[in-house]
Amino acid sequence: MRTQASKTEKPPVITIDGPSGSGKGAITHKLAQKLGFHILDSGALYRLIGLAARKSQTSFDDEPGLARISREMVVKFVPSDDPEEPLHILLEGEEVTKSLRTDQAGQDASRVAPIAAVRAGIGELQRGFLTAPGLIADGRDMGTVVFPDADVKIYLTASAEIRANRRYKQLKDKDISVTLPGLFQSIKDRDERDMNREVAPLRPAIDAVVVDSSLMSLDEVFEAVIAIVREKV
Ligand code: C5P
Repeated sequence: MRTQASKTEKPPVITIDGPSGSGKGAITHKLAQKLGFHILDSGALYRLIGLAARKSQTSFDDEPGLARISREMVVKFVPSDDPEEPLHILLEGEEVTKSLRTDQAGQDASRVAPIAAVRAGIGELQRGFLTAPGLIADGRDMGTVVFPDADVKIYLTASAEIRANRRYKQLKDKDISVTLPGLFQSIKDRDERDMNREVAPLRPAIDAVVVDSSLMSLDEVFEAVIAIVREKV
């Protein structure tokens, strides 16, 4: 049994789940800046596992090999003042931030993510991000699996067309080569895999507030999210 006291002693957690391109990353960073909280970019962990698999030539069918990578990879998140790249990511000491942002890295992540032993392999690492003064956790299963007791749960979504357009602009701004039809297909493939897998499928937690950002600007989404956070914390 969990007492009220033990709950209030834990630093607060705000989970932001949703599909690719829904704006979770931008909202997470703005919220973390406003509240001074830490960030868990859980998608980056799955992208890192995919990247580490490619670097070590581990097949995407080799489940024990991928699970070993998830348990043993050495990763570091280094905050930076660069608004374009507020978090630099190191894998085994090597800067990999840019390689992680490609569409290929997202696809690879969604191929390793359905494997239960891979998800279990990074469970402790993810929960270790929860330190004072609090955490904003961005992903697919933050509110449903990793932090089921989170203080605030938000599920951010938008239509696939709008998400593809946003992603296209983001990647172009970063000089990453993509086409809009290719990206649209890639987003639909990833939605399909993430929503229909057996382990930790993408869906809103029962106690999540759903925000559809299709017709909203980033500032409007941020205002809506802040209002939800104020009401709950
Ligand atoms: O959010 P991001 O696009 O970086 O996530 C990449 C992929 O990692 C997702 O498409 C999903 O398959 C996987 N993922 C996941 N659970 C999370 C975060 C990401 O399965 N909590």
